[in-house]
Amino acid sequence: MIVGIPKEIKISESRVGLTESGVRQFVAQGHEVLVETKAGLGCFITDEDYIAVGAKIVDLAKDLYLKSEMIIKVKEPLPQEYDLMQEGQLLFTYLHLAAEPQLAKVLCDKKIQAIAYETIQEKDGSLPLLTPMSEVAGRMSTQVGAFYLQKDHGGKGILLGGVTGVKKAKVTIVGGGVVGVQAAKMAVGLGAEVVILDINHSRLGFLDDLFQGRVQTLFSNAQNLEESVIKTDLLIGAVLVAGHKAPQLITKEMINKMSKGSVVVDVAVDQGGCIATCKPTSHTSPTYEINGVLHYCVPNIPGVVPRTSTYALTNATLPYGLILAKYGLKKALEKQPILKSGINVYNGYIAYQAVAQDLNMEYRPYLN
Ligand SMILES: NC(=O)c1ccc[n+]([C@@H]2O[C@H](COP(=O)([O-])OP(=O)(O)OC[C@H]3O[C@@H](n4cnc5c(N)ncnc54)[C@H](O)[C@@H]3O)[C@@H](O)[C@H]2O)c1
Repeated sequence: MIVGIPKEIKISESRVGLTESGVRQFVAQGHEVLVETKAGLGCFITDEDYIAVGAKIVDLAKDLYLKSEMIIKVKEPLPQEYDLMQEGQLLFTYLHLAAEPQLAKVLCDKKIQAIAYETIQEKDGSLPLLTPMSEVAGRMSTQVGAFYLQKDHGGKGILLGGVTGVKKAKVTIVGGGVVGVQAAKMAVGLGAEVVILDINHSRLGFLDDLFQGRVQTLFSNAQNLEESVIKTDLLIGAVLVAGHKAPQLITKEMINKMSKGSVVVDVAVDQGGCIATCKPTSHTSPTYEINGVLHYCVPNIPGVVPRTSTYALTNATLPYGLILAKYGLKKALEKQPILKSGINVYNGYIAYQAVAQDLNMEYRPYLN
């Protein structure tokens, strides 16, 4: 198959659809890989790196789309890319289509076979192509929290781990899923005193086993949340109720009782946030202050570590991309049935029920 990797054109998007190691595997399996010139530069992968593993560099996105049978991207196509897509082409990327009515119509009109990373779901409900970005965001949340606790960045001027004879910082993590675990690993590693709250008992048990007494687990209820939050130096919001807006668990009153110079990082801000005082910020202006408490609420945290994020993304997407390239969509579904949950558009119709409902468009599931 001919596989195309265009340069991402969304503002502040420096990731790329495949790393050079990913391209190498496609080439090894006999596929032709076309990479748009400078597509990898945002994460320091040069055209020469791609050429060295067998890719062909293409100067214009137009030519790349024209020749490719499958496009592998990071973000949804933007209006400048709509005309470039070819009828019947396979598109493998993050789509978030429910929020993109215009794109949904274009994909249907062009009968694009659109597979969205974010809806590919395992039987246990996990989302293997979303997980790597949650891992990145979880680790980053502690890292940025430590940064903003510094006096010169507006915080109270403490080290997460303290030093010998001096208190450690208190870190409270609400939600012990993928983001929460990664945030906790970083905080424990830096020597902080860590509390994780979750409502899922078996998850709390898993966390106890995982951290072997290095973190305090607590059931998430208003009492425990309030007691933990008001004593904490760094509060990380990491809650998810799949398919829903995040529940606002942390009230303004709780935030007002935190000591001045404390830091709040609401990772769940992309789902509306679980902290009442949070509103989305951006990498160009990431923080604001309320009652002396610094808030960091960036909805695309992985964007500032595009190199790590791109490698993590390719690791997750590669097995699926290789199967699609080897067999084409129909046969690929026999080999890897969970790919079916990724089909958002097929043969001119929305093939993912929740997307069709949200867009008020006709739903026609993919039928073998
Ligand atoms: N800002 C970013 O850049 C970014 C990047 C990746 C993920 N996210 C967001 O981070 C959030 C967490 O993602 P995840 O992958 O860790 O999800 P996850 O499903 O792995 O974990 C969510 C956890 O929240 C827990 N939870 C649900 N209700 C709760 C409650 N009332 N109190 C405490 N815990 C509760 C669940 O039991 C689960 O353990 C999501 O909103 C996701 O969209 C943001």
